[in-house]
Amino acid sequence: MPVVNVEDLWKTYDGEKAVLKGVNLKVEPKEIVLIKGRSGSGKTTLLNLIGCIDAASKGNIFLNGCDISTLSKKELAEIRLKKIGIVFQSHNLINDLTVFENVLLPLKIAKNRDGENRVNELLHTFDLHNLARKKPNEISSGERQRVAIARALANNPTILLADEPTASLDIDNCDVVMNTFKKVNDEFGATVIIASHDPLVDKHVQRKYHLYNGKLTEDEL
Ligand SMILES: Nc1ncnc2c1ncn2[C@@H]1O[C@H](COP(=O)(O)OP(=O)(O)OP(=O)(O)O)[C@@H](O)[C@H]1O
Ligand SMILES: [Mg+2]
Repeated sequence: MPVVNVEDLWKTYDGEKAVLKGVNLKVEPKEIVLIKGRSGSGKTTLLNLIGCIDAASKGNIFLNGCDISTLSKKELAEIRLKKIGIVFQSHNLINDLTVFENVLLPLKIAKNRDGENRVNELLHTFDLHNLARKKPNEISSGERQRVAIARALANNPTILLADEPTASLDIDNCDVVMNTFKKVNDEFGATVIIASHDPLVDKHVQRKYHLYNGKLTEDEL
């Protein structure tokens, strides 16, 4: 059974033309897939729908076989917290919290008692431990990007959605991020869906799609 199964998905924002016009996508367990497409083609829109943070206009999304349109707000919030990790294109870090507190937040909300150890482990993985006490506006954009990735991984999600995760990174950090995604994929069986323009990402993925004119098609690697 696919972990993510998107069927004939449509999205129209109020008063606009449709952005997604019948998107189909099946992602099997442990796959790493890449979604490309020019700016404005709907990549973020698609990730937001899969990530249960926006509702489709038409069509269905099944996560682990469950039709998310049948879930209550509370059930959706639980899935977002425990099953899905999202790396937002705009990072969405909380400026009043330190780097450490930003990564700790989802663990606290999930009432994880071992949260602080998990944060330390993640900060080491992404070479952020020296920045633990800084606030997001006191670090570089590549560092913020890595904090956002660490936060998304905090609760060991089974579905990781990453929107332009390497946009502000150099090649070494891009490799660190992609290798971490591979590790999450290999060791924890997480499915990873990446939206990206970055050509450096291509060599790390198993499937590649592009979004054009509201439709998604698979490309050869
Ligand atoms: N909340 C919104 N309300 C209205 N229109 C929106 C909203 N969010 C996105 N759009 C429009 O939907 C289209 C797709 O936007 P989206 O952000 O999904 O594109 P994208 O492929 O992620 O682009 P980029 O590569 O620049 O990040 C764009 O035309 C955008 O202007
Ligand atoms: Mg986008």
